[in-house]
Amino acid sequence: MTGSELDKYERDGFLVLENFVTPEACDVLRARAERLVRDFDPAGVISIFSTSEQTRTSDDYFLESGDKIRFFFEEHAFDAHGTLKRNKDQSINKIGHALHDLDQVFNSFSRTPQIRQLVLDLGLTEPLLLQSMYIFKQPHIGGEVTCHQDATFLYNEPLKMVGLWFAMEDATVDNGCLWAIPGEHKRGLKSRFLRADGGGTRFEILDDSPWPDDNLRSLEVKQGTLIILHPLLPHLSRENRSEKSRHAYTLHLVDASAHYPDSNWLQRSTPARGF
Ligand code: FE2
Repeated sequence: MTGSELDKYERDGFLVLENFVTPEACDVLRARAERLVRDFDPAGVISIFSTSEQTRTSDDYFLESGDKIRFFFEEHAFDAHGTLKRNKDQSINKIGHALHDLDQVFNSFSRTPQIRQLVLDLGLTEPLLLQSMYIFKQPHIGGEVTCHQDATFLYNEPLKMVGLWFAMEDATVDNGCLWAIPGEHKRGLKSRFLRADGGGTRFEILDDSPWPDDNLRSLEVKQGTLIILHPLLPHLSRENRSEKSRHAYTLHLVDASAHYPDSNWLQRSTPARGF
């Protein structure tokens, strides 16, 4: 990365790199994600992803997904009787959270010399690939992700983490692109999402002031763009009510030198690996 790119990342808390991934590589990853969904048998394992209701993200299927490939449904995929309104492949919100370790196509996409160099440039000295998600943001029902800092959900001490958000399709205001508050990564962490004693999860509020969202900026990007996210950057994405999906692949890396608390929701049976 160039000095001016790094300066911009430090100033804004995010950086947009266009054409980081080729259209062909995006198509390969997209086809693989669609294949995983086709092969997924949802019988008995309905789990819904929602950032607005804490209880729904506390089930065991979610809590045990840190070292697995698991499938989470859109909140609006079901009718009042709990039956899927459309096909499975148009109902999945995301796949997580160890695609990069367990699937060869995702592994190859995630462990490249280019990504390794990028995160070294960003200051991780011993980068470990902790979490991956393939997010579908389905047409018409793609769920909202409320304003948050990634360090709320993945925390380490000292905070040494990078989020990578790869656009697998064009992301626009209409289909639910990312929005961010530039520069607000300098304010400190507002909450932590923790495993609760006795099971489930809870939020620990560190600062209950509202998000200063006057300066909220949409990040409309083309397929193949990489958005680098600082772990303290407030960001969100709105519902997708459009005809078009908004696929994205995300990867979170941490540094081996930082302490990873066992109160984080994401736990693995084997340690996170590097490149
Ligand atoms: Fe996020």
